[in-house]
Amino acid sequence: MEVTLRVTVNGTARTVSVDTRMLLADMLRDELRLTGTHIGCATGNCGACTVVLSGRTVKSCCVLAADVEDEEIETIEALSKSATELHPIQDAFVRNQGLQCGYCTPGMILSARALLEENPAPTEDEVRHAISGNLCRCTGYHFIVDSILDAARELRGEPAPATAGTEGEALVGHGSGPA
Ligand code: FES
Ligand code: FES
Repeated sequence: MEVTLRVTVNGTARTVSVDTRMLLADMLRDELRLTGTHIGCATGNCGACTVVLSGRTVKSCCVLAADVEDEEIETIEALSKSATELHPIQDAFVRNQGLQCGYCTPGMILSARALLEENPAPTEDEVRHAISGNLCRCTGYHFIVDSILDAARELRGEPAPATAGTEGEALVGHGSGPA
């Protein structure tokens, strides 16, 4: 059965028709073409599909699209205008090599942002706890944790490390990264 939903996605009101069995992750990717939301496991384990639903991070493979009527959804695409105007957390991931294949990265970044909004000066343990629902098969997590701590420093207005780089921008939510 199809239902028609009104939702706000990345600040824009959208009307979308979905099958009542469709997952939010599939609605975002297949109906709205927001392919920065990745699907790794579709069982709620990996966190690749993390989005913000009315202010809270959720795993969008565990939410039925039909249940988000009148909700506000934010995906990784909302964080930056282009590959050259990245959010400070995205910048920090690039600078600190916090990504390799990039598959986990949008979910990691949204979880990191939720942490830093609540706790601008987290400890390493707090960062590791905050991303415990986001799995990464590539990095071993060290560089991801470094990236989030570096982003926290920058967002607090403290000087950023001098080892800036530009590679990897395509994998933090823009460009030709995994879709
Ligand atoms: Fe949703 Fe893995 S795809 S948690
Ligand atoms: Fe490949 Fe995390 S960078 S899964």
